[in-house]
Amino acid sequence: METQPKALIAFCTLTGNTEEIATRLSEELEKCNVEAKVEDIMVASAKDFLKYDICAVATYSFDTGDDTVPQEAMDFFEDLGKLDLTGKIYGVLGSGQEDIYEHFCGAADRFEEQFKISKATRVSDPVKIDFNISSEEDEQKIRNLAGSLVNGYSTASMVKL
Ligand SMILES: Cc1cc2nc3c(=O)[nH]c(=O)nc-3n(C[C@H](O)[C@H](O)[C@H](O)COP(=O)(O)O)c2cc1C
Repeated sequence: METQPKALIAFCTLTGNTEEIATRLSEELEKCNVEAKVEDIMVASAKDFLKYDICAVATYSFDTGDDTVPQEAMDFFEDLGKLDLTGKIYGVLGSGQEDIYEHFCGAADRFEEQFKISKATRVSDPVKIDFNISSEEDEQKIRNLAGSLVNGYSTASMVKL
């Protein structure tokens, strides 16, 4: 019987850059036979992750001095920290502006900490994209993350994809 893993990528965006990043990740996962869903973080709920094998968050950063996540992602963020995601594989992606802001993709780092609290399995550093996907290097970072997520799932479930 073939097992098709499922991924949920919750994204948070103001001007679209992060949605594009989330969508690119889903395309790369689909190429690896993963059923990937991309959903706005204001619609998704963190506990939806319990129904998925691969859990990802893509977020922009909007630091107003408190070095935290965007306001509309706060409920999701707090709920994520209360979940037990043992056995799930997670990934975090961020869009920010490296030259302008002190903490590049700070919100992605916050989500990374929250996933650690949830006990999900880490397979990669957060993928940080400067503004939007604009180079082969950016594309490669996303492909690498997809590969790490799929390998992590395969190792954990002993299923070769
Ligand atoms: C007021 C303001 C604060 C921001 N703060 C940060 C920040 O702390 N770190 C960072 O890397 N980028 C920061 N950014 C840049 C945005 O995260 C970046 O433009 C991102 O691409 C927006 O993503 P979106 O198109 O998905 O909304 C800030 C932008 C604005 C307008």
